[in-house]
Amino acid sequence: MAAPAGARRRGAVQLARFGADPLAYLDGARALEGDVLSTRLGSKTVHLVRRPELIHAALVDEDWPPFSRGRLMALDKWYSGGLILTEGAEHHRQRDTLWKPLLEDPRTLEVARERTERWAGEIEGTIVELFSASRAHVWGIDWAALTGEELTPELLRAQEAGVAALVWLLGPFGPRRWSTPAGARTRAARRRLDAAIDVAIAARRAQPAGDLLSRLVALEPDDQTVQATVKQWLGADQLMGIFTWGLHLLARHPEIEARWHASLDAGDTGYTVRVIKETLRLFPPVWSFFREVTADYRLGDHVIPEGDLLVLSPYFTHRDETVWEEPLRFDPDRWDVRPAPGAYFPFSAGPYECHAHDLAMREAVLILTTLGRRLRFKPMREDPPRPLATGAIVPKGGLRMRVLPRG
Ligand code: HEM
Repeated sequence: MAAPAGARRRGAVQLARFGADPLAYLDGARALEGDVLSTRLGSKTVHLVRRPELIHAALVDEDWPPFSRGRLMALDKWYSGGLILTEGAEHHRQRDTLWKPLLEDPRTLEVARERTERWAGEIEGTIVELFSASRAHVWGIDWAALTGEELTPELLRAQEAGVAALVWLLGPFGPRRWSTPAGARTRAARRRLDAAIDVAIAARRAQPAGDLLSRLVALEPDDQTVQATVKQWLGADQLMGIFTWGLHLLARHPEIEARWHASLDAGDTGYTVRVIKETLRLFPPVWSFFREVTADYRLGDHVIPEGDLLVLSPYFTHRDETVWEEPLRFDPDRWDVRPAPGAYFPFSAGPYECHAHDLAMREAVLILTTLGRRLRFKPMREDPPRPLATGAIVPKGGLRMRVLPRG
């Protein structure tokens, strides 16, 4: 049934406000009251879950079959299948038999260690734009672990075009834009990246090498699924958020930075873990995610009607003062106490939790400690960068930092 004209207009206005600045929109929504905040965004009614108990219930009690990948399917234009675009038994097969062995393979951390040592040497004494440099570093590690090769500048640009497309593809006109002249650059980027991955797959089918891709082709006979898995591995670039925002927060809090350096000198990684957790609290790269419900779904006293979107927003909840004390304060010591269930979920939770959670934390600790033992990062500007929500939370206009030896 079509919505009445008034509701459609309200939906369009809300969607425009949300689209202009999603984080400001979510910041504003915290003034509203209710366990579940419902509104119309464009043609959809969305329900943002506020109370941690309900967030926990929605994430962990996901014995609810009633949700579909919904709008996420638009990402098929870039990926053509793969884990995040499948459901049910095939989803579990890919998660357990393809991703799990790759995520547990020690190669990624070995490559990360070696490349970060080298990277630290390269950036020492220079000025870097930390966001794009961290992202390129993370992609370089992934590509080297997968293929044993260097990510060329051309493939780096193709990957950049792809992750930019993932954002607009999720918008209301995304799939239509893909086929227009405006989408031509992205289609060309996809062709370039696919061709490079296909060559690498064919080479490993002929002769296995000692890389993750060789393991993957041995596990999966379908080349298209292998290609999509490689692209989704590269697409999961959220680690760069930890380095960008973590080093920014440390540089702005000299006492905490000094404690961090002292902990590194003492060979302790516990404080680094707290810094990372606190960074993911304030700047969760996956700032929101959603489920489209395919049948009425009861959550506490609420019923989410069929076809609506249930929204879970780490950014909204992690900065909610009804959930966290002084939520905007960067305070690694708050991690002396475990947060309540549903209060903190940068990796989601329950059956659809990020299955790379453990690898991501280990890789983040490794990279951050390697950088921190050797280098100090100084902001180039007085005023802090404005966070902007795209696929992740990125610093608007970039984050230029002077990289000094720790001495
Ligand atoms: C700081 C790092 C990371 C964060 C904060 C993060 C966060 C998340 C979140 C919140 C989800 C669930 C989204 C949802 O339920 O709709 C997710 C899923 C996923 N993550 Fe991560 N992630 C990180 C790193 C990684 C890495 C390094 C990889 C791969 C190497 C990865 C691969 C994936 C995949 C493939 C999914 C989809 C899982 C599925 O549908 O079963 N993530 N991630």
